[in-house]
Amino acid sequence: LQKSAINEITKEFEINNKKLNEIIEHFRNEMNKGLTKHGQTVAMVPSYVTGVPTGKEVGTFLALDLGGTNLRVCQINLEGGGKISVKQQKYKISDSHKTGEARHLFDFIAECVDKFLVEFNIDCNSTRRLNLGFTFSFPVEQTAIDKGTLISWTKGFSASGAAGKDVVFLLQESLNRKEVPVKVSALVNDTVGTLLAHAYKYPNTLLGVIFGTGTNGAYFEKISNIKKLQSISSNADHMIINVEWGAFDNEKKVLPLTMFDNKLDRNSINPRLQIFEKTISGMYLGEITRNVLLNLIDRSLLFNGYSSKDLNDHYSFETEYMSSIEKDDTSTLETVKQILEESLNLPSTTLTDRQIVKRICQLVGFRAARLSSAALSAIISHCNVIESGCNIGIDGSLFLFYPGFKERIMNSLKELFGPNADKIELGLALDGSGVGAGN
Ligand code: BG6
Ligand code: GLC
Repeated sequence: LQKSAINEITKEFEINNKKLNEIIEHFRNEMNKGLTKHGQTVAMVPSYVTGVPTGKEVGTFLALDLGGTNLRVCQINLEGGGKISVKQQKYKISDSHKTGEARHLFDFIAECVDKFLVEFNIDCNSTRRLNLGFTFSFPVEQTAIDKGTLISWTKGFSASGAAGKDVVFLLQESLNRKEVPVKVSALVNDTVGTLLAHAYKYPNTLLGVIFGTGTNGAYFEKISNIKKLQSISSNADHMIINVEWGAFDNEKKVLPLTMFDNKLDRNSINPRLQIFEKTISGMYLGEITRNVLLNLIDRSLLFNGYSSKDLNDHYSFETEYMSSIEKDDTSTLETVKQILEESLNLPSTTLTDRQIVKRICQLVGFRAARLSSAALSAIISHCNVIESGCNIGIDGSLFLFYPGFKERIMNSLKELFGPNADKIELGLALDGSGVGAGN
């Protein structure tokens, strides 16, 4: 019974190449829709960044990074020759700031910038204000390099009074209110920052990607392809587009969603939104796994039918546990035992229980990597660089810490592109977005 249940779940999570190609085709169509018209599911946000860094840029900037695991304030020194030095400080954002009033959130951010300036003894005052690049990792309808209205919060944020407002204005107001001598002069998404930072080092970079709490990508697009763009006062021929691919297939037309995904979506603070992101990113993988485990428990196929109070709490099965579980190759699965019995307080587990848990983590983690490869493939094909190859700069906790994530993506690309996949370079663009905002 146990075996047939696992086989059945395996089938639900596996995506064969035919299905993957169907997803890629739909993805490409959605990209084209987003390039043509405003307000589409895949938003394809013009970034108004038209320049490619040459690596020769020099100067000192502040960068602020909101939307990943931490709030970061950085001082960036571009030293030329692709060399960068960074001073930075991380700050934790509380749940009450994430979900309270936007004004309080932005005031808190302004206070962090102020603390940073004092702590690092940075020279600026009201007549000599420092420029700040704001990496704001949420969907924004951008109208200029320093203007953009928040479309909707994602990744567990829901602060009221921000949707539909210009986030540069909101931040500047808070900085002014707190008398912090800083001017917000650029607004970029984390993927745009990651792309710029990677391009600063590797000129062949096409795409900047985040596989972290959320997931998304940004790439260089020909301006003539961005049909919805009225006019821009630049004679550049490329502009970076922030795809906002987390929202891909919000209509649930093509993704092979399981009942475990649908349960997660229904119980989330943003049902029917960010559907693609919910199958891939670090915020959600543990929760999908938890849903599968609870299902097996309810059918008396796991832990002898017993759960624990902890396992019944939403989001208690952290994606970090999955990383540790997948890494555990001891014969008795000791780490798995520890996580289940000590962190989640489950009654004593058998080796079979632990093997099943590991198997479920593999299925969920593997599917995330397959779907990630679909997004990369769609953009590589759209930009017609299958033959020539390209560099992809990637950041985010999932890419950094989830064992085998990169290899799984690479294997999937090999299945899709054959030997041409060897010309695709997946590189780590660590903490890139702060640097990119400085650019
Ligand atoms: C950080 C970047 O390194 O990675 C952020 O500076 C980005 O801009 C973040 O949002 C993404 O990763 P995570 O795992 O923190 O969501
Ligand atoms: C979410 C945000 C997007 C961001 C991504 C990665 O998908 O909507 O703007 O780039 O997370 O942080």
